[in-house]
Amino acid sequence: MDKIVIVGGRRLQGDVRISGAKNGALPVLVSSLLVDGWNTFHNIPDLLDIKTIRKLLGSLGVKIEGEETVRINAGGITRCEASYDLVRTMRASILVLGPLVARMGEARVSLPGGCAIGARPVNLHIQALRDLGAEVTLKDGYVEAKASRLRGATLYFDISTVTGTENIMMAATLAEGTTILKNAAHEPEIVNLAEVLIGMGARIRGAGTDVIVIDGVKSLHPVEAAVIPDRIEAGTFLIAAGMTGGDVRILGCNPLHLDVLIARLRDAGMRIDVDGEALRAAGGGTVKSVDVKTLPYPGFPTDLQAQIMAMMALGNGLSVITETVFENRFMHVSEMMRMGADIVIQGTSAIVRGVAKLRGAPVMATDLRASASLILAGLAAEGTTTLSRVYHIDRGYQQIEKKLSALGADIRRIAGF
Ligand code: UD1
Repeated sequence: MDKIVIVGGRRLQGDVRISGAKNGALPVLVSSLLVDGWNTFHNIPDLLDIKTIRKLLGSLGVKIEGEETVRINAGGITRCEASYDLVRTMRASILVLGPLVARMGEARVSLPGGCAIGARPVNLHIQALRDLGAEVTLKDGYVEAKASRLRGATLYFDISTVTGTENIMMAATLAEGTTILKNAAHEPEIVNLAEVLIGMGARIRGAGTDVIVIDGVKSLHPVEAAVIPDRIEAGTFLIAAGMTGGDVRILGCNPLHLDVLIARLRDAGMRIDVDGEALRAAGGGTVKSVDVKTLPYPGFPTDLQAQIMAMMALGNGLSVITETVFENRFMHVSEMMRMGADIVIQGTSAIVRGVAKLRGAPVMATDLRASASLILAGLAAEGTTTLSRVYHIDRGYQQIEKKLSALGADIRRIAGF
């Protein structure tokens, strides 16, 4: 397996271009299941998770061409089943459930099971599909859903769920009648998906708010659309600039999607200027310790919690980082402590006492965002950090070592050992 080797202490400087959002591209590619004909999607990132969803869609009989611009046609679906092997490697595979039932009348999707950041059930997806009139059973580790045609209904999510909202929004586009989705998630990726679906002829209003209303239609038509920039990748580079005392321009992002992070990083002493679709970020020398609490959008994203913790590990005081979205998302803490960080976990909070220096060490990635945080820690540490299990980072960051090395980092990938 590949490793990433970082020699810390280099100041990052220059321009970096942000790729399309992983969490935007996955549901957008899946939305093609609702349509007979060739869709064209731009700004698709080159990531392991995208390869996985392509493999899954391909296994259903969907035709897919192209890389950054993808042409995709679900006119000849031959199978309605997502196997355990694919769902196990990527939980977002559950996204095919709603669209398949809505268009094909049936779907069989493996239950994802637990993962490194918690139990992550899909009960809300299942309940919502039942509320739309699907007959859903759990058999041999699979969710099996059937409905000759889904019926619109008023639904309420007990917890704000991103892929749950996406799954049900897609399913409801082809239901008979109106669906009102209450306590819907607000993430920009949901708005992106709604715009794609509206381009296909879906009748959706309220995406980006608590209540999404979908008037079902009989059929949808192909569309040409683009995926939004990856706000988590952009956020990771902002933090990298801050931690290395660097001066970095982050191009092709949407600064409006990064409001909370920008505010917290300014509190932490960084200078951040917004210029259209670019951000210029400069580290202010000392990192001021700030408190952070993760929340559904527009709150602080859980997907940047590990990265801001790496920064706070070098803060000038005490920082309390509270995770409210996932129950077990502190797997990076023990690895950071091996690099000299001083962190104590108390329930859902991590108490981070800033230290003057982190020291390079061999560390292991446990999940996607944890691996990003360890790379950040390695960039700012004294000495060499070797990150193993880098397949986690390849799931969600396009060529991270190339982008960082173009900014002056001493980082390289060592192939397979
Ligand atoms: C999505 C993102 C992920 C991000 C997360 C939270 C994608 C592909 N992934 O994941 O990167 O970290 O949102 O912003 O977009 N829950 C239930 N039952 C359900 C569904 C969710 O209890 O049926 C709980 C989860 O365990 C979690 C919370 O709801 O505690 C939010 O999870 P959710 O928004 O569903 O996360 P994902 O959509 O899986």
